[in-house]
Amino acid sequence: MSDDDKKPGLRSQSWFGGKGAHGFAHRSWVRSRGVPSDHFDGRPVIGICNTWSELTPCNSHFRDLAQFVREGILEAGGVPMEFPVTSPGETLTRPTAMLLRNLTSMDVEETLRANPIDGVVLMMGCDKTTPALLMGAASVNLPTIGLSAGPMLNGSRAGKSFGVKDAWKLGDDARTGLATLEDMEEAESCLNRSHGVCNVMGTASTMASIVEALGVGLPDNAAIPAVDARRKVLSRMVGRRIVDMVREDMTLDKVLTRKAVENAIKINAAIGGSTNAVIHLTAIARRMEVELEIGDWDELAKEVPTLLNIQPSGDYLMQDFHEAGGVPVIIKSLCEAGMLHGDELTVSGQTLAEANAYAKCLNPDVIFSVEKPFKSHSGIAILKGNLCPGGSVIKPSAADSSLLKHKGPAVVFENQEDLLKRVDDPDLEITPDSVMVLKNCGPRGFPGMPELGMMPIPAKLLKQGVKDIIRISDARMSGTSFGAVVLHVSPEAAVGGTLALVKNGDMIELDVAQRRLELLIPAEELEQRRAAWQAPDSPAKRGYAKLYVDTVNQAHDGCDLDFLVGMTGSDVPANQH
Ligand code: FES
Repeated sequence: MSDDDKKPGLRSQSWFGGKGAHGFAHRSWVRSRGVPSDHFDGRPVIGICNTWSELTPCNSHFRDLAQFVREGILEAGGVPMEFPVTSPGETLTRPTAMLLRNLTSMDVEETLRANPIDGVVLMMGCDKTTPALLMGAASVNLPTIGLSAGPMLNGSRAGKSFGVKDAWKLGDDARTGLATLEDMEEAESCLNRSHGVCNVMGTASTMASIVEALGVGLPDNAAIPAVDARRKVLSRMVGRRIVDMVREDMTLDKVLTRKAVENAIKINAAIGGSTNAVIHLTAIARRMEVELEIGDWDELAKEVPTLLNIQPSGDYLMQDFHEAGGVPVIIKSLCEAGMLHGDELTVSGQTLAEANAYAKCLNPDVIFSVEKPFKSHSGIAILKGNLCPGGSVIKPSAADSSLLKHKGPAVVFENQEDLLKRVDDPDLEITPDSVMVLKNCGPRGFPGMPELGMMPIPAKLLKQGVKDIIRISDARMSGTSFGAVVLHVSPEAAVGGTLALVKNGDMIELDVAQRRLELLIPAEELEQRRAAWQAPDSPAKRGYAKLYVDTVNQAHDGCDLDFLVGMTGSDVPANQH
């Protein structure tokens, strides 16, 4: 054993506490940044894991916020060490940011374990950055605190609030001639008026709310706007708190428990959160070795009403949510109704109920009460049936309620190209009663499971005034999307799931109340088709994409790479000295 290994204390001391050549090297190279020698005297070393990138516009204020985290760490007597990780931005990354979520998680895990870090602040915002960072951190299990980006300011167009849901509608209007390209161009600058994540309850704000519900972030983490000075204060408080968490040895497993995950599922229901949360939270929980099955989403959330009136299920935007009191109001309401485990420990050092006891609803038209909820049914339903033996997901609150029990003939699209080629064909044989089916957009099939589940309503039907139609796929959909959209069909088409066997004209039955999704063909016929099915050729031939396709698990298991599930902790198995 070298002298570097002899000094007891914090993990970082096995790098910085030694008196020999290795300790010299570890300190000397860090001192090249202008760090004084007392920074190596046994103070907690805090990693600031930063997803800042100009390729991830939602996180583009993180260099600024990181300075406030740094100040907080120094104020509390810690040593900040900021580092970048892969940042999959939702809008620019091809074929889909989801493909890179697991890559980022590996980057986070390996960087944390490999370096002299005692605790970590996770700076996360745009959709995939939150689950990726939590997954990686869970597998290492250091003291960990989440800091989210916060939403961008409310969009504003022609004197009215303008959100992503309005932008989707504008896109449909452009396809049918009701809006012009000039309208679209003008709307670009109206939608995104500042740094921050999408200003509706999309995946980013859903995951930021889940960070609060899990107790992994401080109260108000999700909804303070990105550019609000209060987010800078929050960043500073996060910096202070993580130093104390290291001193208290509050590792992530003490916070991210099964009960915390149950709380997160219930909060997701109460906020009308994104369907993507089902996949991401499953992956996070399983990294932490917390059991979570897809059926738990229904079981745990069925009594929880939707309290939040926010797009895409409602009317308001994230800035309004913050001004109405934010996630703490929802947590407090559900705690008081006995729906949450209020005694769960949070990173604040208080229980969930204690940390959010101060909350006050300041706008009951934005945040409704448990007694008089915004919608009595909650956000996400899990379907089973012969079309999705592993499960599938629908967000009833975002669908035309008349479609929630429906039987209709399938109109099949074999893949994205087929969809784009034919969806607006005036000769497409489709009626409002049809069921649109899209194949080969699952984790292996695309690869990466893109957000193509909200297929565009065919122009032919839009012109008839059709506003919703049943759509079924093995894809995901954006948290900003809406409609009678069945997603995450598992097993996916590319591995020979029943979805792969659906043909044009087959009758499909959806019954959300009974949680059923069935392909109505004789079992014998289904088996004949299964025997004749041939796997499509994968486009992923090498590199990370091949690793992903070869090892990714199915949607109901969280789309993690199978060898990444679970944790190995922070010990480095072999040192070079
Ligand atoms: Fe980044 Fe929506 S595109 S949060």
